[in-house]
Amino acid sequence: MASIQTHIPALAFTIDRHSKVPVFEQICTVIRTRAVSGSLTQGTRLPATRAMATELGVSRSTIVTAYDQLVAEGYLTSVQGSGYTVCAIGEVELAQKTPLPTPSKTQGDTPPTPHPFQAGRPDMRLFPHAQWAKTTARICRTDPRSMLEGASPFGHFKLRQAIAAHVADWRGITASPHQIIITAGSTDALEICTRSLAQEGDRIGLENPGYLPLRHFAEVQGLDPMYLDATGAGADLPPPGTAPRLVVLTPSHQYPLGGAMSPNRRLEFIHWAQSHDAWIIEDDYDSEFRYAGRPIPAMAGFDHLDRTLYIGSFSKIFSSALRLGYVIVPDPLIDGFRDTMRRFGQKASLMPQAPLAEFISSGEFYRHLRRVRRIYGERRKFLLDSLAQGFAEFGHFEDHQAGMQVTFHLNEGLADHAVSARAADLGVTAHPLSEYATKNSNFNGLVLGFCGFTPDEMAPALGVLRQALRAG
Ligand SMILES: Cc1ncc(COP(=O)(O)O)c(C=O)c1O
Repeated sequence: MASIQTHIPALAFTIDRHSKVPVFEQICTVIRTRAVSGSLTQGTRLPATRAMATELGVSRSTIVTAYDQLVAEGYLTSVQGSGYTVCAIGEVELAQKTPLPTPSKTQGDTPPTPHPFQAGRPDMRLFPHAQWAKTTARICRTDPRSMLEGASPFGHFKLRQAIAAHVADWRGITASPHQIIITAGSTDALEICTRSLAQEGDRIGLENPGYLPLRHFAEVQGLDPMYLDATGAGADLPPPGTAPRLVVLTPSHQYPLGGAMSPNRRLEFIHWAQSHDAWIIEDDYDSEFRYAGRPIPAMAGFDHLDRTLYIGSFSKIFSSALRLGYVIVPDPLIDGFRDTMRRFGQKASLMPQAPLAEFISSGEFYRHLRRVRRIYGERRKFLLDSLAQGFAEFGHFEDHQAGMQVTFHLNEGLADHAVSARAADLGVTAHPLSEYATKNSNFNGLVLGFCGFTPDEMAPALGVLRQALRAG
């Protein structure tokens, strides 16, 4: 314990009365700087508040405020009867700030402009602002607390009820709200699943080709990815002896090839999971977008063995800005998932959950869904007709009547990377299919998104694409 020095140094300084910085803050700054520089040493007693106030010509309460602030920051201590003394500041040398490269003005904080045919993008120009504003305003008036507190670790109960009704109608899944966990999108849902069901080093089966961020996610989580070759009819079963702990599948609409897994293959997967004590994660990211016939029922809907966890997302059907998704877990797993949510916390934002629940239950959500599906259907028809009429010499596509993009398989002699790079130089986005796949596979095509662009926007882009393909 340092002794209190009797010598009270002159703290002479002048207050700048024209400054925008409040007087008490000016006093704090002087004392802080002197304590850090060592001119006020540990144990030095500061002038009494009354004396200091007189010396500086300010009120005593201003001095008390400044001293108390410095006590709170750890520069001073206040001992009853002894006034305020300087604390040990420690011999901290402030590191020189290393200048970071200045980002160019166009980098980082300007949103990238979407160009046709960027895949996986809903058209945010179609977002139902007026209806969403009305719904949110109603919740703010009638049940404001629900936007701020009171949700369980699994999320807002009314939203879980609305999702249970939605998946029953649209995806053929019978689930109680208790089985539903609200998540911050699909990747968060997947993280909750892997935390609950897998351990570092466990194998995870991923579709090849597949959703790229999943590969990165598996690696970051310390899982050991193995690849299941997929065709338009779904992924292959894991070969005997490989035994992944989890497989992630897109059975209703393979990403990015399109196409649904046959009922037989689905049953084979379910039985495989049962006999290997493994789990299937069904990533059902865009299945509401089916343009002919009825939506293909989800795999989780007919898994009577309870081996399938279902992940849904509002990113595609409503807005990726919400960052809301959900996972439906089989009954026997609920306790384990509750434990995961307690340990790691809920990442999904609570505020939009009650409005979204109301938006779904009031029917606004379905009006929006039907509207965008009709518009996307027209855009899809425009793109597919154009490809059929003008691009047959370069390759072919399969029409799966679903989803947000079409995969155009290139003829031999055309390399998707090269075509994609040439199109990009001309301002058109055409993702190379080979990038979604492992290095040694021979997928060669262009993944073309159609939802985010009107026919008028796509028409000139098709001209550019043709130019890029012509260049060989
Ligand atoms: C197959 C697949 N799964 C998941 C997602 C991501 O969904 P979210 O935005 O909810 O994380 C995407 C996005 O494109 C996707 O294509």
